[in-house]
Amino acid sequence: MAVLVTGGAGYIGSHTCLELLNAGYEIVVVDNLANSSTESLKRVQELTGKDFTFYQTDLLDQEAMEVVFKQNKIDAVIHLAGFKSVGESVRLPLRYYHNNMTGTLVLCQLMQEHAVKNIVFSSSATVYGMSDSVPISEDFPLSATNAYGRTKLMIEEMMKDLYESDPEWSIALLRYFNPIGAHSSGKLGEDPNGIPNNLMPYITQVAAGGLNELHIYGSDYPTRDGTGVRDYIHVVDLARGHLKALEKVVSSKGIEAYNLGTGRGYSVMEMIASFEKVTGQRISYRITDRRPGDIGVCYSDPSKAERELGWVALKGIEEMCRDAWHWQSNNPQGYQKEKPILFTGIS
Ligand code: WQD
Repeated sequence: MAVLVTGGAGYIGSHTCLELLNAGYEIVVVDNLANSSTESLKRVQELTGKDFTFYQTDLLDQEAMEVVFKQNKIDAVIHLAGFKSVGESVRLPLRYYHNNMTGTLVLCQLMQEHAVKNIVFSSSATVYGMSDSVPISEDFPLSATNAYGRTKLMIEEMMKDLYESDPEWSIALLRYFNPIGAHSSGKLGEDPNGIPNNLMPYITQVAAGGLNELHIYGSDYPTRDGTGVRDYIHVVDLARGHLKALEKVVSSKGIEAYNLGTGRGYSVMEMIASFEKVTGQRISYRITDRRPGDIGVCYSDPSKAERELGWVALKGIEEMCRDAWHWQSNNPQGYQKEKPILFTGIS
């Protein structure tokens, strides 16, 4: 049984591919390398000792994607490919709608044509918008406060319509909270383009000397120490959640959303303290104004995934910090990225 992993060279993708191969799955990877490198796939191959097929292809290239489906017996899809920067999506909404929405449309149309109706979709906790209560469960109201979050929300809605039109589909919508950390080998990890938007890669680059101080966005939130609280989840736990969702979509029909989080929230100050404790690195920081669009507190109720998928996050915050630092200190320049193929279209 071949599993097509779109975006398989990325941060979540490479960790998911490693878990799939180690579990004995045959995989086919599609990635346009816009935000990733084949180096991550080479390392997945080294770590697992297993080969797999890779296409450097853009989902928007319908002809190229047709070839993927014709050349491989795909039984299920794990769809991770997509742009994911909130800030960039506000500046370039059309690029985000075209890439994330049209790319998913092309994928789903090809799946339908080839009678492949099992899909695990990479959604996000951003579909809960500015939720005013925690812990967040899957039945909370959905909304979006930026173009990126709206693409995730609209794709979820599109998939619900798809299932309504054809109950033969089996769809899992995985709402990620805050993935951080890296594989324990230190060979895979998060390698953002340019200055990191997210907290943990910023911290590890300060620790590595690439950035001189962390700006803490606000210390006047209604939290233990005034700084923002999030539900950080180890990327390996997150990857393993995809395998549990895959098992479910290949064995039943329907469409369900699942929170992939730990159910615990940590503040920025607590993350800094934990990182300094387990790595011995000191993180200099400065408190600055709140980041527009940020919420104060966000963490999950992950009990539905535990109940229905038999999945629970096992790794604690110290292991997340240790593994994040192990990756960054072993790879101060991340992966050396190749030139991506970007399909012509709306920019
Ligand atoms: C975490 C906390 C910041 C950076 C983002 C995406 C979201 C999802 C998860 C994809 C907040 C604070 C951060 C910094 C800081 N990704 N912070 N200084 O904003 O919860 O969500 O990642 O689905 O779409 O928006 O994560 O890591 O950016 O911020 O103080 O330099 O760290 O204010 O409290 P966020 P984050």
